[in-house]
Amino acid sequence: MDKNTHTNFLLLTPGPVPASSFLLRTLAEPMIHHRSPEFVDILKEVKVLLKKIFQTEQEVLILNSSGTGAMAASLLNTLSPGDTVLALSAGKFGERWVEMATSYKLKVLQIEAPWGEAISPTKVHTILQNNPHIKAVLAQACETSTGVLHPVQELANLINNQPDTLFILDTISALGAVNIPMDKWNIDIMIGGSQKSFCLPAGMSFIALSQKAWRFNEKSKLPVYYLDLKKENKAQTQGQTAFSTNVSFIRALYSFLSPLEQKEGLNKLIQKSETLSKMTLQFCKNLGLTVFGHPPSPSVTSIALPKHIDGVKLKKQIEEKHKVIFGGGQGQLKGRIIRVGHLGDLSISDLKRGLKCLAMELHSLDPKLINKKDVETFFSKWNDYINKHF
Ligand SMILES: Cc1ncc(COP(=O)(O)O)c(C=O)c1O
Repeated sequence: MDKNTHTNFLLLTPGPVPASSFLLRTLAEPMIHHRSPEFVDILKEVKVLLKKIFQTEQEVLILNSSGTGAMAASLLNTLSPGDTVLALSAGKFGERWVEMATSYKLKVLQIEAPWGEAISPTKVHTILQNNPHIKAVLAQACETSTGVLHPVQELANLINNQPDTLFILDTISALGAVNIPMDKWNIDIMIGGSQKSFCLPAGMSFIALSQKAWRFNEKSKLPVYYLDLKKENKAQTQGQTAFSTNVSFIRALYSFLSPLEQKEGLNKLIQKSETLSKMTLQFCKNLGLTVFGHPPSPSVTSIALPKHIDGVKLKKQIEEKHKVIFGGGQGQLKGRIIRVGHLGDLSISDLKRGLKCLAMELHSLDPKLINKKDVETFFSKWNDYINKHF
């Protein structure tokens, strides 16, 4: 396939997300050295700005890995072989915690929820009471594979009461779309990824540790070299990185974060995802489509497809005819849902374009499912609706 045929696609997946042309231009700027004074200044400034997104006074470390690398770093830098962890699993990314912790020879207790449901804090409370030796609770804020938002604050409150247990939270698809103040809620480790709210390609991740997590780091015995956070922290507090780093990404990150400025910027970012989410939920309601999972995360809406609709075929049809890419279902949800992302450089009219295509193709697969007139009425009132509510 000609590689240029992808340039006009609209990415409505929950990561990777569209990047603005301004950021793409920054990525293309000539190379500078990662030990140059110019880069040291940028790195120092980026780190100040990242603290605002994480809502923390702790250092936020930048890693040259996709989000999964930062998940790995969180375990490798705080735990020891044989430690017991409690993994909360309600989708593909919850399963990843289980697989990863098992591969590091940790003892893994699990609380599972059916895909589409959130984890029950009551169950977590009971297990914590009966197993005081649990060293860490591993969770997602948003389970991207189902579109469900877990009750982060309630979970954090429970784990706070356990002096010897860390709360390790994957906020890869929630950071910048959901308000999760790391310090205020006492989250011990928070993790982000570049290809979500940060509007960059995949390949860079972010991680911040509380003082409690750094104390765990002192005692941790799992072997770690490249992802050694102590070494990385020492370097990054001086505007350096432990190893060669992705200068282009960090410059682009600076270009993204610096105009956002302070808390107002974070609020604006969160508001944007919330707006796109509310509009998508309204679309579903008006056209009689069922939202999959509860509660839906502001970062992604999963739409349940009726049994007779093949989601894989639907997604392919939308891509081929309209050049719009939605997320499909993963694992046990393959072909059963369409996921609409609300992250990245997306405008309200991008969302309108995408949802229109979705409605048209659903209609083409089953005219009884979606009434063309309802679609036309909904979209003709779209602007009124937006002006009234946002
Ligand atoms: C919640 C969540 N966790 C982990 C990951 C994995 O991140 P990466 O693919 O950047 O390694 C993703 C990616 O979509 C995610 O959404």
